[in-house]
Amino acid sequence: MSEKNEILEVRDLRRSFGGVQALRGCSFGVRRGTITALIGPNGAGKTTLVDAVAGARRPQSGRVVFDGHDITGLPCHKVALSGLIRTFQISREYPAMTVLENLMVSPQRQSGERLSTVLLRPSRFRAEERQHLVRAVEVLAEFGLYEKRNDYARDLSGGQKRLLELARAVMADPRLLVLDEPMAGINPALVDRLAEHIVRLRDERGTTFLMVEHNLDVVERLCDEVVVMAVGQTLATGTMAELRANAEVVAAYLTGGVPADVRAQG
Ligand SMILES: Nc1ncnc2c1ncn2[C@@H]1O[C@H](COP(=O)(O)OP(=O)(O)OP(=O)(O)O)[C@@H](O)[C@H]1O
Ligand SMILES: [Mg+2]
Repeated sequence: MSEKNEILEVRDLRRSFGGVQALRGCSFGVRRGTITALIGPNGAGKTTLVDAVAGARRPQSGRVVFDGHDITGLPCHKVALSGLIRTFQISREYPAMTVLENLMVSPQRQSGERLSTVLLRPSRFRAEERQHLVRAVEVLAEFGLYEKRNDYARDLSGGQKRLLELARAVMADPRLLVLDEPMAGINPALVDRLAEHIVRLRDERGTTFLMVEHNLDVVERLCDEVVVMAVGQTLATGTMAELRANAEVVAAYLTGGVPADVRAQG
């Protein structure tokens, strides 16, 4: 564990797609128990960074250290089992399953995944399934989705799908939740509801959040720290107030341009 009590350290990550350098030496830390925002203009590399952290894309170089363990290049399911869960810029629920079923298939160690347990120790398998169901019902109630439990996920509104995605992530008991634009495309009332859940999870469960977010009002209201990315690099970190006073950040993001020295490195 680092001195600053960081749950996540991203060190000098690099990743290209053909000629496009999406990450060109991106480094920052996320302190335990915070809601940390990741902001930056379109194409800054935020989703590529989330993918690299969560194991969906292998970085070409650099390190990802989660809770003191080097997880660089581990596949998604191993990263998820270690307690780091991510959600997607476009919700990825299972549309033809019910809301309850969506929670039942959230990633975690289930002995039902091993045929030997199902066949040789059916009572253990059934007991685990029962526990899992009880937990799913609790989480649905927590997120105000219990009434919707038998609805198909495809029939939920955009905002309810976002809530479902967060509820699914919570089923896995994450220590770090990485959310890629969780508020995108949802109405203001649901933005507030989702924000309340995020704060509740931080305060009650001690969950840490790294959250890609374009809505700066949400960032200002919700986030303890902000990491600014531009052209594949971290430009600055600090509170929103500190960043507003940072001319480089204002030029790169708050008004849309990119500073010449950063551009020159491309
Ligand atoms: N699979 C890919 N193949 C080729 N180029 C890609 C791929 N994924 C991302 N890129 C490029 O990498 C750069 C960073 O993209 P990324 O999606 O990470 O940005 P972002 O900050 O998440 O943007 P947005 O705010 O629009 O979601 C962009 O130039 C993008 O076009
Ligand atoms: Mg993105």
